[in-house]
Amino acid sequence: MTYLVKVTVINGSPRKQKGYSGFILKPFINGMKKAGGTINVYYPSEMKIKPCIGNLDCWESGNKECIINDGMQEMYSILKETDILALASPVYIPLPSKMQIFINRLCALLNPKTKFIKGRTRVSFRENVKISKILGLITGGWWEIENLDTVQTIFKEFANIASVEFIGAILRPHTWLLKENTQKNKEILDKIESLGKQVIKSGQMDKKDLDFVSQPLTTEPELRKMLNKMHS
Ligand SMILES: Cc1cc2nc3c(=O)[nH]c(=O)nc-3n(C[C@H](O)[C@H](O)[C@H](O)COP(=O)(O)O)c2cc1C
Repeated sequence: MTYLVKVTVINGSPRKQKGYSGFILKPFINGMKKAGGTINVYYPSEMKIKPCIGNLDCWESGNKECIINDGMQEMYSILKETDILALASPVYIPLPSKMQIFINRLCALLNPKTKFIKGRTRVSFRENVKISKILGLITGGWWEIENLDTVQTIFKEFANIASVEFIGAILRPHTWLLKENTQKNKEILDKIESLGKQVIKSGQMDKKDLDFVSQPLTTEPELRKMLNKMHS
């Protein structure tokens, strides 16, 4: 049985589909489509969106909307009809700037009425917002997976604040090595496709499969040697 079907993918990379995040989003999206999902991809770098001005009009006036009349208004309509929000981004210490603006502007979709759950202040999406799950897809250039922690925490924290399930993140350190034509890389890309299918079929991603996708593609000294050679 199909679980949730309408997925909105936000690819925060300014390099859009030509970047490494776009490269691993491709099999993920293929997997979701093959499993029957309706997938739409959007790029904050293409959006005509202004930074949040912080007057909290969306929370404190009666109109419950963001007063900034720009490209985000169209995104609000799309997000209201979204079941699963997939936040994809490269690590840019920590986020590409337009991705950060996009996330700030999501505030307008939240109902400001607070609850206190397990020692943390939480809110919820407004009643007219369908999003019930959020996932991440994060790429980095350096060796260790810890490079991706901050971005994952930002995505997870947003899901927690909005009181929806964070179903995990595809974490791919040194993504650039994944472009080499090797058997291992093919297996990883196939696994990413399989994770896409899982998202649509069960609304979850298998932890073992996520670990497989994140595996090191070489040793740290080897990668450092390659990077330093490129940058010398
Ligand atoms: C401004 C900037 C900061 C970056 N910081 C990090 C970092 O702290 N750790 C890391 O692993 N990669 C870092 N990277 C590398 C990118 O995260 C990596 O190349 C990523 O896969 C690029 O994805 P894209 O091609 O989709 O934009 C940085 C890249 C840029 C441009």
